[in-house]
Amino acid sequence: MKVLKSPDLEISDEVFTLFTDLIYRTAGIKLGMQKKGLLISRLGKRLKMHGLRNFHEYYLLVKGDNEELIEMLNCISTNTTKFFREGYHFEYLKNAVVPELLRERRSEKVIRIWSAGCSTGEEPYSIAIAVHEALRWEGAKIKQGGVWAGWDVKVLATDISTQVLQTAEAGVYEYDQIPVQIPPEVVGRYFLKGVRADAGRIKVRDFVKEMIRFRRLNLKDERYPFRRAFDVIFCRNVMIYFDEKMRRHVLSMFHRHLSERGYLFLGHSETMFGREQFEPVYITVYRKR
Ligand SMILES: C[S@@+](CC[C@H](N)C(=O)[O-])C[C@H]1O[C@@H](n2cnc3c(N)ncnc32)[C@H](O)[C@@H]1O
Repeated sequence: MKVLKSPDLEISDEVFTLFTDLIYRTAGIKLGMQKKGLLISRLGKRLKMHGLRNFHEYYLLVKGDNEELIEMLNCISTNTTKFFREGYHFEYLKNAVVPELLRERRSEKVIRIWSAGCSTGEEPYSIAIAVHEALRWEGAKIKQGGVWAGWDVKVLATDISTQVLQTAEAGVYEYDQIPVQIPPEVVGRYFLKGVRADAGRIKVRDFVKEMIRFRRLNLKDERYPFRRAFDVIFCRNVMIYFDEKMRRHVLSMFHRHLSERGYLFLGHSETMFGREQFEPVYITVYRKR
């Protein structure tokens, strides 16, 4: 049997550095020399698709073509995520943060949350579900009638990758992506089970989707296009890909775009560089000082 040889996927140190500099300049993502294999495997398919012979040719293409730059960033970004990842954060949101916001915001009845680096949507949907569960519970306690009782709650979900945003917007997942600890009645409240050709899949219910807006946003940008401050920002497992300079930039932007005493949720392994700006209040949860 003849084995088809794939095109020569070597990359010199010089060309690798051209890519890592470009990726850092555009997205703030820092790739060390040990990531050579990752770059080759992730960008190799783009080379093949364009019928290019080597990475230098691909670099020249990416430099001159903004759409291909976006495609390259889609390939480079690591998008691992899951529903209710680091579950204690959603418990804290539901049991402490939302009840407090319901008291503090009761005159305007507006809550704004941002999931920055939302990947394929599991995080913002988990946020929307946790908030909705809190509203049901609090609404029942204070006998406000309807679940919403006039509350306007929105989650903005952003990512640099257009590919993950497409998946997020569709809101369709494999059933076994839902953690087993989530009670079936809760799953039923927020998801529709697929039947026939869609058996084994679930779809986020429309009322949950309507709470969320998905947008492309690059955290490297000098300015973020928000008029209104957020009460809560989630940015988990995103800054691990950044260097200290970029982390400081992102944290100062979060500080700027958080409301007075707003909450910032970081990933479990992320370092807070802005202790003077943020006060720790829970496991990798901070409040704006
Ligand atoms: C590992 S996922 C984390 C998803 C989710 N927050 C979680 O904790 O499960 C990291 C996400 O950050 C996004 N990302 C990386 N660099 C970014 C940047 N400069 N601007 C916006 N998003 C970025 C990636 O595309 C990816 O979807």
